Amino acid sequence: MIAPHRVSAVLSLGVFFILTGTTSHYVDEGNPYKTGPLPVENFNLSESEDDAPRHAIVYYPARPGVYAVLLFVGGFDGAIRVEMGYTDLLSRVSAHGFVVMGVDMRSAHGTGGLTRVRAASHRGNLPASPAQTFLQQLDWARKHLNAYLSNQTAGVSVDWEKTGIFCHSAGCAITLDMILLNHTGVKSTAFLEPFSFALSRGSSVDFRLPALMYGTQFCEDFPFCCVKGMDWNQIYDHWSCPKTLLATKNQGHCDILDHTMWEICHTTHFCKTGDVDNWAEYHTFMQGFVSAFFISTLQGVDDWRYLSNVTDIPIGVMNAKNDTNC
Ligand SMILES: *[C@@H]1O[C@H](CO)[C@@H](O)[C@H](O)[C@H]1NC(C)=O
Ligand SMILES: *[C@@H]1O[C@H](CO)[C@@H](O)[C@H](O)[C@H]1NC(C)=O
Ligand SMILES: *[C@@H]1O[C@H](CO)[C@@H](O)[C@H](O)[C@H]1NC(C)=O
Ligand SMILES: *[C@@H]1O[C@H](CO)[C@@H](O)[C@H](O)[C@H]1NC(C)=O
Ligand SMILES: *[C@@H]1O[C@H](CO)[C@@H](O)[C@H](O)[C@H]1NC(C)=O
Repeated sequence: MIAPHRVSAVLSLGVFFILTGTTSHYVDEGNPYKTGPLPVENFNLSESEDDAPRHAIVYYPARPGVYAVLLFVGGFDGAIRVEMGYTDLLSRVSAHGFVVMGVDMRSAHGTGGLTRVRAASHRGNLPASPAQTFLQQLDWARKHLNAYLSNQTAGVSVDWEKTGIFCHSAGCAITLDMILLNHTGVKSTAFLEPFSFALSRGSSVDFRLPALMYGTQFCEDFPFCCVKGMDWNQIYDHWSCPKTLLATKNQGHCDILDHTMWEICHTTHFCKTGDVDNWAEYHTFMQGFVSAFFISTLQGVDDWRYLSNVTDIPIGVMNAKNDTNC
């Protein structure tokens, strides 16, 4: 909804926009814990047809506008592809005004993959690490994504000045390595139930990059899908300001997954899961929580209210802390 006084402001600025070719950036001003207001569509990028470093699904608001952009890497060592496990989360975050690219880091051409072979033969040395491959994916997207988007829905584009990265589980080992390698152009990052060695030997992040660390109570219970000392607390402790941490009660590592994958995880006891009756409520919380962080850090709403005020968080909180006065 646009208030009348804003409509007139927009109209009087119209000439300015035409002259400069500027369009306003989308800002979600609603409560992020509610379902986002935009209609979302998606398309696939493939290694073979599009020459993208990795297969990816792009979720985008199908309404003309300039949007912030997010890249996502899933967990379980790439075994759970975006289209199997993360469609609910990624599409619902997109509805808050983000173009979201979920990247399948495991190559369709086997573990090594074409890109590794190509990159290796270019430099005549070792194959690219997953973090380097992810950087290549980001480079590829910077060059090509806007052309794909405008072909899908005229008037839809992303502003690369507003780039965020997020991850789940061991996917966070890849995004964290990438950030440590080269964080140029990344404006904020979220680690959802992360697993990474990168900061476990005393090293720390000394540059300023707004970050969110998230964990669940059952993740560190048997069969130990998260590991103490390589988890959200560890990254939080070794991160510079601003940062915020939240861990929720009675939830587990698979609860973030799409319902079919969640069920497989639940029945095989792959990880300890939360209550079956809670899946929908938890997903509504997760999409809101992730969106709240990126609305605050990328859409220009410099207000961490929905993250820092525990009374706003619509689910059981086990642990919460933050350091935002930098
Ligand atoms: C993307 O690919 C998946 C399978 O990899 C398929 O199920 C889905 O329908 C495709 N989506 C589109 C929009 O083509
Ligand atoms: C966009 O559409 C045009 C016309 O159909 C096509 O030639 C072009 O290859 C498309 N570009 C992308 C990036 O999909
Ligand atoms: C880091 O990434 C930026 C943006 O992709 C690129 O321009 C720059 O050359 C990279 N720096 C290094 C040291 O690789
Ligand atoms: C926290 O949120 C509650 C409910 O939305 C509100 O009543 C309260 O004033 C907020 N506190 C702060 C410090 O913003
Ligand atoms: C964030 O920090 C403020 C000030 O220390 C505190 O009042 C608030 O409860 C914290 N919120 C979370 C979610 O940690």
